Amino acid sequence: MCGIIGIVGTAPVEARLIVSLKRLEYRGYDSAGVAGFTASGVERRRAAGKLKNLEAVLAAQPLIASVGIGHTRWATHGPPTVGNAHPHQAGRVTLVHNGIIENFAELKAALTAEGRVFQTDTDTEVVAQLLDRELGSKPPLAAFKATLDQVRGAFALVVMIDGEPGMLLGARNGPPLVIGHGDGEMFLGSDALAVGPFTNRVSYLEDGDFVAIEHGAARVFNQAGQPVDRPAQVVPQSPALMEKGNYRHFMEKEIHDQPEGCQRTIAAYVDALTARAAMPGGIDFAVLERIQIVACGTSYIAGLIGKYLIEPLADLPVDIEVASEFRYRQPALRPGSLVIAMSQSGETADTLAALRWCQARGMRSAAVVNAAGSTMAREVDVVWPIHCGPEIGVASTKAFTAQICVLTALAIAAARARGRIDAGEEQRLVRVLLEAPRLIAESINLEDAVRGVAAEVAKARDVLYLGRGPMYPLALEGALKLKEISYIHAEGYAAGELKHGPIALVDENTPIVILAPFDSYFEKSASNMSEVMARGGQVVFITDPEGQAHAPAGARVVVTTPRCDPLIAPLVMSAPIQLLAYHVAVLKGADVDQPRNLAKSVTVE
Ligand code: AGP
Repeated sequence: MCGIIGIVGTAPVEARLIVSLKRLEYRGYDSAGVAGFTASGVERRRAAGKLKNLEAVLAAQPLIASVGIGHTRWATHGPPTVGNAHPHQAGRVTLVHNGIIENFAELKAALTAEGRVFQTDTDTEVVAQLLDRELGSKPPLAAFKATLDQVRGAFALVVMIDGEPGMLLGARNGPPLVIGHGDGEMFLGSDALAVGPFTNRVSYLEDGDFVAIEHGAARVFNQAGQPVDRPAQVVPQSPALMEKGNYRHFMEKEIHDQPEGCQRTIAAYVDALTARAAMPGGIDFAVLERIQIVACGTSYIAGLIGKYLIEPLADLPVDIEVASEFRYRQPALRPGSLVIAMSQSGETADTLAALRWCQARGMRSAAVVNAAGSTMAREVDVVWPIHCGPEIGVASTKAFTAQICVLTALAIAAARARGRIDAGEEQRLVRVLLEAPRLIAESINLEDAVRGVAAEVAKARDVLYLGRGPMYPLALEGALKLKEISYIHAEGYAAGELKHGPIALVDENTPIVILAPFDSYFEKSASNMSEVMARGGQVVFITDPEGQAHAPAGARVVVTTPRCDPLIAPLVMSAPIQLLAYHVAVLKGADVDQPRNLAKSVTVE
């Protein structure tokens, strides 16, 4: 999960490399570096830590070049030191890499045996050494192809070759790489966001492609070395969504963006005039036998909420599994199933692999994604975009609720197609869904109540989140949010499982967040609450007005979300758990948008 950029420019590139790397920092921020063709040859500038450290280096030693490359790193091999920071060099080669070279150990051994001396612990350096060796006997493109034929693994590369100052090479096998088409300038970047400040005309390289970009031209080749055409497409730009505005963090902004984001999402899947739900792409839910959802992290949790909505409403079996398990355990698939990949980035390696596993066995495929040009979006039969705009905070918030909106619309459309509901009920449910943005906004406005309990939770060593029914996945999400940005250990649990072990955790120092709207599960959740309180547990109760009125004696209701139909309770109850994690992290002084060890898009397994 690193970010890479290359510019064959007609003007100085230092500042533009930094602008692009700032947009790529969400992909990793352990170290950063740039390199360029200067008057005195190829020069590098690198720094450990955040991009601002590299900017300080450049302030002292500017990089005067009009062709150059840049990298922001999420460490896979080798600690995040300046020595391991990209760009890496060997002889005539300077390059940046996103991904993992799986056979780097054997290649390194062979190259070392040939007398080559390695400077770093990284897998990336092997590619530079290999290419430098191949350049001894081949011209640049042939040497590059010979190198790519020898490396195995997932990689996106951008390469400079000393002596070829007007050219950059690029290659893609797994992690994405796009070509940006400028006016007399060309760009290579990890995604359209990376080249967005310079151009909105983008080509997407396919796995196995390699490319040479020069002033005003790009020559693309497939794995066999045959020239191929990857046409440029215009990518809508949303610079406003890239800025924090008057928020302190992107995560805060994105939590507050949810009403508008969900409104855009819902509008793509329902007709507000006829109050009908419709999923584009021609999937016939009437005959569909099963849905298999594959996803990771928060996207997995959104999919699990989808299961709780689709099965009862449409009587359509939904299997869901974390992609990293699914892809290796030889699952017994059934033809006539639809695989749905859930992914904000559309690039998560495990989800992509699980999707391809299903496609290879003849399953029809769909993707619920945010990044329209992502690999998943380009490889599936049907794309269901979530339309929530770029999500920069590593902790997913607006994409989570947007994904739930898509699956809620799918549940309604499938129920209608399968004759489980009539037109009247469909219209009622669609109108319920159309209310969600307003009710999400009301939930967000409860921020002060949430902030009030954040100080207490911030002192905890462990936090337990409990829920039943669709609130169980939401308990998982609340725990994931808290741990990934505040570093407090938290666990989400099915409330009915409390007595099967977790209740042993309960004492006066353990906040227990209980998510319980006044639904068919409420009575049982209320008794769980009494069990916890009887043992001194500090309950943080998140409910709705009826739940507050029926709360067990002594329960401390912290947040009362607006009354809503159970269909959209997961949407309406998301904001309090997102805001709780956010305010706890802020109180702890954590790096909210770029938590340690994480990256926004996990493009390696
Ligand atoms: C969620 O807050 C995390 N950042 C992480 O779990 C994320 O949801 C997961 O890595 C999946 O990413 P994707 O949606 O881009 O596939």
